[in-house]
Amino acid sequence: MSVLFQSIINTGKPYSLRQIISKSTRICKCFSKRKFSDISRKFLSFDEVAAQRRAEAKRSLVVQVNSEASFNELYGYCSKYASVNGIHHYKNSGDEHFMLIEFKTEEESKNVIHSCSSHQKDVDVMALHSPFLWFRAVSGKKEAFQIPKSQLMTTKGCNSIDEDNLIEELANCEDVSEQIQQMHDRTALNDLGVRLRYMVARQIERIFESLYANIVVRPFGSSVNGFGKMGCDLDLVLTNILNEEMCDSSKRLVYQEKKCEGGRSPWQRHMELVGELLELRVPGATRVQRILHARVPIVKYAHEFTDVDCDLCYNNMSGVYMSELLWLYGSLDPRVRPLTFVVRRWAQTVGLTNQHPGRWITNFPLTLMVLFFLQQKGKDGCVLPSLKTLVQYAGKEDIRLAEENLNCTFLRDMNKLPTDTYGQNKANLETLLLQFFEFYAQFDFHDKAISINEGVAIRKPNTLPLYIVNPLEQALNVSRNVSYEECERLKLEVRNAAWLLDAGLDGKKTDGWGILGLIERKSTRGLKNLLKVGNSHRLVSVKDLFNNDDDKIEKVKAKRDSEMKQVLAQVDNKPKEKIKFKNTQVASEVYRIRRDKII
Ligand code: CTP
Ligand code: MG
Repeated sequence: MSVLFQSIINTGKPYSLRQIISKSTRICKCFSKRKFSDISRKFLSFDEVAAQRRAEAKRSLVVQVNSEASFNELYGYCSKYASVNGIHHYKNSGDEHFMLIEFKTEEESKNVIHSCSSHQKDVDVMALHSPFLWFRAVSGKKEAFQIPKSQLMTTKGCNSIDEDNLIEELANCEDVSEQIQQMHDRTALNDLGVRLRYMVARQIERIFESLYANIVVRPFGSSVNGFGKMGCDLDLVLTNILNEEMCDSSKRLVYQEKKCEGGRSPWQRHMELVGELLELRVPGATRVQRILHARVPIVKYAHEFTDVDCDLCYNNMSGVYMSELLWLYGSLDPRVRPLTFVVRRWAQTVGLTNQHPGRWITNFPLTLMVLFFLQQKGKDGCVLPSLKTLVQYAGKEDIRLAEENLNCTFLRDMNKLPTDTYGQNKANLETLLLQFFEFYAQFDFHDKAISINEGVAIRKPNTLPLYIVNPLEQALNVSRNVSYEECERLKLEVRNAAWLLDAGLDGKKTDGWGILGLIERKSTRGLKNLLKVGNSHRLVSVKDLFNNDDDKIEKVKAKRDSEMKQVLAQVDNKPKEKIKFKNTQVASEVYRIRRDKII
């Protein structure tokens, strides 16, 4: 894999870590001047949070159980091998129950893994060390366990909030700012969601550790950038860490390595192998799909124990640094994430975004649009600093080079950012949301490009309808896929939204007030109102109106009510998009073992 890594970052000549650092030292001119030892730490860095989450995943296991009632027995059984920090319960969409157990230390969780047995019925099944397990029922007399010292930390911890409840809660809010905050708090990816995503990453890492030295599997994208909602997908990147130790030429014993031969690029071939391994060796991984001819080759799969759709790629560190950048912006001001959530949700409701790839805008560029808006200097100043400012305050410790020598250097520790560079604008969420729509309603999409690097609109370098500069690779446009029609729709929808929100700011809480008009589909609202007032009988057909038989009318009404509820359920509970397969052979799954008995 180190051969692979070199071939990617090199584009020709070999590079050592020291060379990388000295090269990027030249790029970044502004380190070493500052002394920050006296600055109090208000912000955690992305790396600190990621390290905490990775460590948490290393001392955790996910166990399939029969139900929540298995808690006492599981706690008692595991306590024989290790001390338990806490247990979280959740159900997947297959109605199967799982418990995520966090132990005190990684060593202790290893003790538990080493105490595992394999399935005894199927001789064809070959077990492997994976943090996903199941809890076998005992035959005969049950062991007596002590009463657990703690209770379940969460029950059904992965259930998203019911749409109707969310809408009702939002309708009962005091004001629009509270609605925006509430929508964020009730739909954001929760602690268990993040833990499970790190467990999925850890599973791959653990399985591949025997094949590749120094491998790390990192989550990136919305699962970790602070803008993820419950059920969001998981972007994963396989990387090889080349630390000083691994590059130390004074070490005389060197790994014999294997060069990847063949017509296609080496990482494409390794990704093929990853696909095979996912199908054959990774419990829970199903519906594996290889997309190897894309600019960034990926393998998609669905993790059925956690209900997470995963996109696994190789050595795409710029994606990780991009997530870090978004995370830092989100952590700098508490208004950033709620505002982005409502904008993403509005875009989904009006059909500007769509889960499938296409000629429309996606969540990532939409998030950049929100950040760019928050960088605008109003009369009070801005909410967020430009990326240029973050680069300006970067230190030696912030130097990062991604694949193809992409310079991803910017300030990582927000405690070091002078407080007069951000947060002067104190407007509430309601004002910011309205201003967001007004800003883009007037934005000159024809001539201008959006650049969070500059924090001001710049001239468009080409005639593509929408131009949003890729912050880490400024020659690229992250919205180059967006068609003229989709850009026109975007312009139209921001104007509509500005009008709708502004018209509703008269203090009256009419139906669909505040953000409800933006995030609830009108068709659904109309139908819901009909049902809410109990007058769905108005929907009986003309033919039925001429029928005198009261009993029959009641039956018709009941039938209509139930049909209407089904229609609403279909509109509201849009089925979770499944990965589409071009080739059904590729989609073939490894047979999931039927367990005889799980407790
Ligand atoms: N990314 C990037 N450059 C792009 C597109 C994506 O660097 N042109 C990175 C970003 O870090 C982004 C991540 O890849 O967050 C994952 O992309 P995607 O899944 O499209 O966006 P998410 O932010 O994960 O949002 P979603 O919830 O829609 O998956
Ligand atoms: Mg994603």
